[in-house]
Amino acid sequence: MSCHERPDYAALAADKERFYAALEREVRSLVADERDAGSNLANTASALYHALRAARGPGGTNWAGFYLAKPRSGGGDEPAAASELVLGPFCGLPAVTRIPFDKGVCGACARTRETVLVRDVHAFPGHIACDAASNSEIVVPLLSPAGDLLAVLDLDCPDVGGFDEADQQGLEAVAAIVAQGCDWDAALIPAKPAAPRLAV
Ligand code: SME
Repeated sequence: MSCHERPDYAALAADKERFYAALEREVRSLVADERDAGSNLANTASALYHALRAARGPGGTNWAGFYLAKPRSGGGDEPAAASELVLGPFCGLPAVTRIPFDKGVCGACARTRETVLVRDVHAFPGHIACDAASNSEIVVPLLSPAGDLLAVLDLDCPDVGGFDEADQQGLEAVAAIVAQGCDWDAALIPAKPAAPRLAV
């Protein structure tokens, strides 16, 4: 049984409007019968990663995934404090697990709740390098109907200037579909501080 039909993204490589229309249809169908945020974010990260690489080759993206905006637990009985970004589902190399709102491209997106399009990550003050191959990046916010930050969608590219305004428009549409397609309450419970590292 095939679990899911995938568009022929290689055939749409030359036309970003049609590429993103197909991607939006794929993501809509992936989230249509499921409200679990973990499942929907995992499938969307995979769809994005493979669609971009099918259309543009391995240079299309080297990391595609989500960070969740979770209230930071004070630990013990302390109340949840300000939010931080906590690593969610992704495709690519292992990445930094927690990003404060005042750090990195993801933090800039979380603070402003607007897309941050970075042509050259080496020229972005405070950029957090997770994969040395990354040279450009785009981070798109996922917002609730009230405008609260739920998560950010982060994509890296090995090319300088790998994403443009057409990508921004398409990825913002995808982010809106996923934001509306999930139940967020369970996904955004406060993340406890990391436990002390075990000796191995
Ligand atoms: N570059 C990001 C960190 C996350 S990785 O790209 C997966 C940033 O500066 O926030």
